[in-house]
This record gives sequence, C-alpha cells and structure tokens, in this order.
Amino acid sequence: MNPSLLLTALCLGIASAAPELDPRVDAQWTQWKATHGKLYNENEEGWRRAVWEKNVKVIELHNQEHSQGRHNFTMAMNAFGDMTSEEFRQAMNGFQNQKHKKGEMFQEPALAEIPPSVDWRENGWVTPVKDQGQCGSCWAFSATGALEGQMFRKTGKLVSLSEQNLVDCSHAQGNNGCNGGLMDKAFQYVKDNQGLDTEEAYPYYGTDDTCKYKPEFSAANDTGFVDIHKNERSLMKAVASVGPISVAVDAGLASFQFYEKGIYYDPDCSSKDLDHGVLVVGYGFEGVESDNNKYWIVKNSWGTKWGMDGYIKMAKDLDNHCGIASMASYPTV
Ligand SMILES: *[C@@H]1O[C@H](CO)[C@@H](O)[C@H](O)[C@H]1NC(C)=O
Ligand SMILES: *[C@@H]1O[C@H](CO)[C@@H](O)[C@H](O)[C@H]1NC(C)=O
Repeated sequence: MNPSLLLTALCLGIASAAPELDPRVDAQWTQWKATHGKLYNENEEGWRRAVWEKNVKVIELHNQEHSQGRHNFTMAMNAFGDMTSEEFRQAMNGFQNQKHKKGEMFQEPALAEIPPSVDWRENGWVTPVKDQGQCGSCWAFSATGALEGQMFRKTGKLVSLSEQNLVDCSHAQGNNGCNGGLMDKAFQYVKDNQGLDTEEAYPYYGTDDTCKYKPEFSAANDTGFVDIHKNERSLMKAVASVGPISVAVDAGLASFQFYEKGIYYDPDCSSKDLDHGVLVVGYGFEGVESDNNKYWIVKNSWGTKWGMDGYIKMAKDLDNHCGIASMASYPTV
C-alpha cells in the first residue's frame, strides 16, 4: 500500500470541512442515507454530504456524455457515494503491487483456434459474487475465484472457498490481511498449508483476526502458480484454455467506483498503477467483432449491487487497458 494515499485521503477530508450544500437534493440525500443505512455524527454529515453531491455530479455528467455517444458505459450512484476516490482506493482495493517471487511462466498452448468468446459462468466454474466489505482483501477474493475454478476443473465440483482463511493465515507468505496482499502469495499459502477451508466452514467477516484454519474442512490444494506473460493475447489464451484467471487492475478512478453497465474504458486508467485484484471469467464482444467493442468479463468482490450484478465488462485489446494483463496468474492444482 502506498502511504501517500493515506495522506491524500486525510488532507481531502480536512479541506472539505466547510462545504456549500445544495438544498435541492435534501430529499435525495436522506433517501440515499436510508437505502445504505448511513449514520453520521454532526461533524461528519456536512462533508460526507459534500463528497456525495460531488459524486452525484460526476455521475450525471458522465451519463449525459454517454447519451451523446461519448462513452460506452454508464455510471450509477451506489453504496460508495460518500467516499472520495482516495478513501475508496484505501478501503476497497488492497492489491499490493510489490516485487514477489515469480511463478513458473505460462506455456501458451498451441490452440488451433482461440474462441472469439468464452464465459466460464455458463459451465458452472464460478461461484456467486461475494462482498469484501470495507477490508482491503480483494486479493483473497481474486485468489479463491481462480482456485474455485481450477478445483472445479479437477473434481467437477464447485465449492466456495474461504477468503477469511487467506486474510487470517497467509501473513507468513507476505500478505497483510485487510491491508492488502497478492494473489500469488495466497496460492503460495495454500501450497505451504496443504489446504484451504470452505467458505461455509470458515466464513467471511472482513476484519483481521487470528488464524483458525482446520484441515478437516479443507476443500482445495494447489501445487503453486503460473504467471502469464504481460500481454492480452497471452491472457486470452490462458482464459480460453485454463479457466478463470486472477488479474490486477487500476480500479482507483471514480468511473470504476460508480460503474453501472457497458464496456468500461477510461483514458485515465493506468496499466501500471494496479491496486485491485479481480477475476477474469471470460471475454467477448458486442455487435460484430471489430476493434473497439471487445471486453473482458470481470468478476468483482463488491457485492451484486455494484456494476452488472457484481461484474464489469472491461475494454479488451485496447493497449492493456487498466493493466489487466500486467499481473495475471492462476494456481496449479
Ligand atoms: C465505443 O464503441 C465503439 C464501437 O462499438 C468505438 O468505435 C468507440 O471508440 C467506443 N468509444 C469509447 C469512448 O470507448
Ligand atoms: C491436500 O493435500 C494434502 C497433502 O497431500 C492432503 O492431506 C489433503 O487431503 C489434500 N486435500 C484436499 C482437499 O485434496
């Protein structure tokens, strides 16, 4: 985690302490607070409202531009409406883009033909969308997603696996619980630990706690992990031939925070500043297959109310947009 983000978040909080509020949206604000069960103390209410109003404006402007054909995706207000982008990044992302031990490299299969679209959800490889809450454990959700898929491939059974097990127990591999981690380090933990508990036996509560792994409830193993070459062609071959793949992206922009539907593309999205671990479960295209309408199908861990029932379509083959191919990997089982 980058410590300068924390400073930025605190500074913004202070800077917006005496906000000008728009009385015309009083009812909307009350409604939004009720919908999301928000309670603030007096000090907080004013600046939270100001942040929310700013976000409402960003969303409205974007959707107006969308109706003029300037974007291919829409944005919508959601539970993150009172968070600045800096706070959001701090609370929700938690992918630690740090140097780490590399896995074995992906050997591209000699596929006669790479299918133009793939969706592993259709074949029972993918569990329902989960919710990480306010804990930077995205990396754990990305890792369980890939492992659930590979276990399904091996056993024919789809078993939801425990993120909390990874959050609580993989410190020795270099992960940092709710303060961030890496998928490859999670795969390494499963290998070292010789198991990972089921979601049912070791449920998620989204805070850091002591390790409570019980081998009798383990439903997965891996023998290590494979890293994929940093290009979308290689990622495509991996998704087509292996199954769901763990990836890291830049999810720090407001356009991502409030993504609703359509193919996500934001020119400000970085292909190097990766801050969020997610799962690619397929890819496809809209209309006829041409250059600017291809997407990756990405499973997020922010619940089903965000995006397209918890998923986002991210622009594909547009110069590694948001860094989706920059740190892709999967566990070997
Ligand atoms: C939207 O999609 C069309 C193709 O369907 C493409 O030509 C255009 O560049 C896209 N626009 C943006 C802003 O991504
Ligand atoms: C995982 O591997 C360990 C050690 O080989 C074995 O004892 C355990 O039964 C395996 N667990 C599963 C779920 O396959």
